[in-house]
Amino acid sequence: MSSLPTDPGTGASAASPAVSSNGTSTASSTVSPTSNAGAEAAEPEGGDAAPAGTPFERLGGEPGVRALVERFYDLMDLEPDYAGIRRLHPSTLEGSRDKLHWYLCGWLGGPNHYIERFGHPRLRARHLPYAIGATERDQWMACMVQALREVQVDPGLAARLAEAFFGTADWMRNR
Ligand code: HEM
Repeated sequence: MSSLPTDPGTGASAASPAVSSNGTSTASSTVSPTSNAGAEAAEPEGGDAAPAGTPFERLGGEPGVRALVERFYDLMDLEPDYAGIRRLHPSTLEGSRDKLHWYLCGWLGGPNHYIERFGHPRLRARHLPYAIGATERDQWMACMVQALREVQVDPGLAARLAEAFFGTADWMRNR
């Protein structure tokens, strides 16, 4: 998935959480905090008006995204339940931490650090060297959901992000 509208293969299920899930803005030509602000505010969440701001802002900007990524990879390193996806990664996770952090900043509606460094994400293509099936997808999701909980992301936002992450993780399946 990608926040880029030009990403080949990007379907609604892989849409960035920075794009409203009301089904209309997945076709919008830009994904930016400014263009999303209205859609965010209009989106219902738990019956009340959703808090304003992009997911990036609601997570606390770069330090918040970084904390989530750090916990995600710490858990992947520590938890036997995630050993299956841990062994697909390099022995040191420092590069993975940076890349996921840069990528998520943009995906969540913040600065496009990943694209500035590496160009088009081509995320599915970049995952093709790794055997990803339903087991790996589910481990990735469980690790991320645990990280969202442990860094105490607001439960409503965490649920919405988990749904968006699932679309992307499922799209990574290549077997
Ligand atoms: C479905 C289960 C997934 C598995 C098993 C998986 C596994 C991996 C592996 C093994 C790497 C290489 C790590 C490295 O080079 O340091 C990687 C890279 C990456 N993954 Fe995933 N991943 C999954 C899902 C996702 C999802 C859902 C996202 C985003 C929301 C994501 C974002 C990234 C990014 C940005 C990179 C760096 C790509 C690059 O520039 O080389 N991955 N992933």
